[in-house]
Amino acid sequence: MTSPPAGAREWIRRDLSRDAASPNLRDYDEACARFSWAEARARLTGLPGGALNIAFEAVDRHVPVRGAQVALRWRSRGEARRDVTYRQLAQLTSRFASAVAGLGVKPGEAVFALAGRVPELYVAALGALKGGFVFCPLFSAFGPEPVFARLSRGEGRVLVTTPSLYEKKVRALRERLPALSHVVLVRSGDEARAPLPEGTLDFDALLATGRPDVAAVATRPETPALMHFTSGTTGTPKGALHVHGAVVQHHLTGLYALDLREGDVFWCTADPGWVTGTSYGIISPLTHGVTLLVDEADFDAERWYGLLERERVTVWYTAPTAVRMLMRAGEALPGRFDLSRVRFIASVGEPLNPEAVWWASRALGQPIYDTWWQTETGGIMVANYRAMPVKPGSMGRPMPGVTAAIVTRAGGRVQVSPVPGTVGELALAPGWPSMFTTYLHDEERYRACFVDGWYLSGDLARVDADGYFWFVGRADDVIKSSGHLIGPFEVESALLEHPAVAEAGVIGVPEPVMGELVKAFVALKPGFDDSEALRKELLAHARRRLGPAVAPREVAVLPALPRTRSGKILRRLLKARELGLPEGDLSTLEPPP
Ligand code: WT7
Repeated sequence: MTSPPAGAREWIRRDLSRDAASPNLRDYDEACARFSWAEARARLTGLPGGALNIAFEAVDRHVPVRGAQVALRWRSRGEARRDVTYRQLAQLTSRFASAVAGLGVKPGEAVFALAGRVPELYVAALGALKGGFVFCPLFSAFGPEPVFARLSRGEGRVLVTTPSLYEKKVRALRERLPALSHVVLVRSGDEARAPLPEGTLDFDALLATGRPDVAAVATRPETPALMHFTSGTTGTPKGALHVHGAVVQHHLTGLYALDLREGDVFWCTADPGWVTGTSYGIISPLTHGVTLLVDEADFDAERWYGLLERERVTVWYTAPTAVRMLMRAGEALPGRFDLSRVRFIASVGEPLNPEAVWWASRALGQPIYDTWWQTETGGIMVANYRAMPVKPGSMGRPMPGVTAAIVTRAGGRVQVSPVPGTVGELALAPGWPSMFTTYLHDEERYRACFVDGWYLSGDLARVDADGYFWFVGRADDVIKSSGHLIGPFEVESALLEHPAVAEAGVIGVPEPVMGELVKAFVALKPGFDDSEALRKELLAHARRRLGPAVAPREVAVLPALPRTRSGKILRRLLKARELGLPEGDLSTLEPPP
């Protein structure tokens, strides 16, 4: 949690005269005052008759002007590397789109991907969009439970994955996925020589059946394009649906918030299994015709600095957890690398500690520019801009075109809080193009996000007299661990499947690097006794079902879990006890519906 230190007036004003390129957004107030979405849309090319297709804007429209430029610069875990030009990417995505159509898959049906950061994943994402299918990424570190929950709820028709992920997470569940008619496997090395598992197709063989020159489907701005699953406090994960028109927001935020321009090498460290890795790890930068760096490997401080230097990264979009890991690797390390080409560094996903901003100013030679948004908003809503002073700890100011406010709820209505500094819920006025259009199969939950003409984010924040927003905390029980949003209900459900567990309550507890750590509290069924062996078994069970990205790191056994009168587990009370806070302060113990 961050809040402005009392009376703090320490801003970081960057001397832009030293930079070769002046910022895309030079005058924030002016850009806001004369803003129009029609003008924002006119920055894109569009298709005849008012059609708009994300893949066309990201790939095909660049072919005549920069067909030979590298669109995707892929670096593998090992020695392998691959550069894909805009022309090649256009051909590959056309092949994918037409090959999938050739399987009998209809526009609007869902193409899922479950894979690490390999080039084929990018081809599948953009190819699905090109063909008018709905693309839905899954994080490769999800276990079989989260994969199954999302694939079945999203009625995945096609799944692009790898042989090992298929074997570990999908094969056994396939009978319970009647909609899933095609599994396409990306095979490399030895895998490519092994026989194909029954009921699967080979990615390259499938592509060979497609045509390299088919045009993007003439989707409308309101045609569904992307589905991103996100977690709430209760129930199954929610499938937030986004439309092709979202590309207007992706492009505009790339321009203003990420300061992207021709010639840039852009690196977004988020995995495409999450919304950041799709909106900004694929779409936004490509609409700007830049070179996208994709690193298959996981975090490693030296590797990362080495990539920034060697790949001549100019704009870098990363996450607070990663920044904290870099901080742990020491301030001297970046000094061994030439980071002078890096023009702009931004972050998203969780609170960016003011210390991290100050650290970057010293160690990396510039501050980190925080941005705020959510799966539901589809793109950046609040940001710090290169031309504006940074107040370390603040998320910045609303994007031109976006109206944000701090509101309070009372009696089913909301009221905009007129006093700067008041803590309330961060709300947005609907109307930006990347706003989700529904939660799949859950229109009621979707409608519940809107009150009195505001979209309510579920985040608590405040705005200061200069119009800068400051994150305060979540209004609900969802957990943010290493930047990943985790629904406690999904974790509790997996624990309840264990024969020893009678009740489960899951919370996030503060942790210096990950932000929050997932901690489970369980009560045991009669006949089971607490022991270290049992607790280990519970953690292993949860990890098998949920995967390392979601599973709890700690478990504690209690005689019984605290509940409300209506029987809901009181996660907040568990949290108050864990943090040693006075329980009396939690006056509104009934969790929100
Ligand atoms: C939640 C959304 C942002 C896209 C990827 C994550 C938290 C996001 C910030 C920030 C503090 C932040 C909020 C938000 N969050 N950005 N700059 N400072 N908190 O999308 O998984 O839907 O998570 O992430 O709590 O509601 P998401």
